[in-house]
Amino acid sequence: MRIKILGAAAGGGFPQWNCNCFNCAGARNGTIRAVPRTQSSIAVSADDVNWILFNASPDILTQIRATPALQPARVIRDTGIIGIVLTDSQIDHVVGLLMLREGRALEIYCTDAVHEDLTTGAPLFNILKHYCGVNRHPIRTRGDRDFAVTGAESLVFTAVPLRSKAPPYSPHRENSKEGDTVGIRVQDTRSGKVLFYAPGLGEIEPHVAPYLAESDCVLVDGTFWTGDELIQMGISTKPAHAMGHLPQSGGGGMIGVLTSLSRPRKILVHINNTNPILNEDSPERLELSGHGIEVGWDGMEIEL
Ligand code: MLT
Ligand code: MN
Ligand code: ZN
Repeated sequence: MRIKILGAAAGGGFPQWNCNCFNCAGARNGTIRAVPRTQSSIAVSADDVNWILFNASPDILTQIRATPALQPARVIRDTGIIGIVLTDSQIDHVVGLLMLREGRALEIYCTDAVHEDLTTGAPLFNILKHYCGVNRHPIRTRGDRDFAVTGAESLVFTAVPLRSKAPPYSPHRENSKEGDTVGIRVQDTRSGKVLFYAPGLGEIEPHVAPYLAESDCVLVDGTFWTGDELIQMGISTKPAHAMGHLPQSGGGGMIGVLTSLSRPRKILVHINNTNPILNEDSPERLELSGHGIEVGWDGMEIEL
């Protein structure tokens, strides 16, 4: 299978429109070495023709323009996207659905909790009914968690419930529901190779660890370097854990989790614009490199 990182930044992108933090200002002025990044999404294909979009970022149109494989131009109106898998209902992962309203009904694979958010708190599915329509395919986090995406039969998808946070607008923001956030395991049945994608991951619960360990590549939550990054900068009063993100540094942080894994290639995605790892010359970036942990970028391709 081939994986394309369409957007490696967290909500707001990098640089963020209203932000003058060290990274955003530095990227804008060219005073630091840092590549701009659009908001969080990847695309996966088993045949380089039919692509499954994971999350629909507010930057989806820019991402499609930057990715010719997603526009094969076979007929007057066309797309290479055969289905959309949602890992949660966060704004940075769903707003792009509205940008895809001109085509055929969207084939959307999501949990009941995400479906509930997108028909109540942020009723995008209701809105889309009046445009292209939505064919919703339920994905389960209990019992048999495997699912298939029509048109990509050689891939097996598995939804793994994760501890993170429902979006601020969600009726269950402070009262997490199983399925608010999932990680997705994708196995190519021809090669046996496994990807695990989890852009929102607040805690490594016991049932999650084996999924990370058995993967050939993990693309995981790289939002924050420290738990109090936004507080230190005077940007927010919320620590990372209150937003459902496990920071990289510190005891029990993502670096420790990833360095304990011997098998997978380790790549961070959903990186917030405040995170010092975006600065290619930062000591934090150097530390990651020393651990063999990569920082995802828009246009990055992985073949498994
Ligand atoms: C998150 O990942 O915590 C959210 O996407 C934040 C946001 O809505 O921008
Ligand atoms: Mn996000
Ligand atoms: Zn910033």
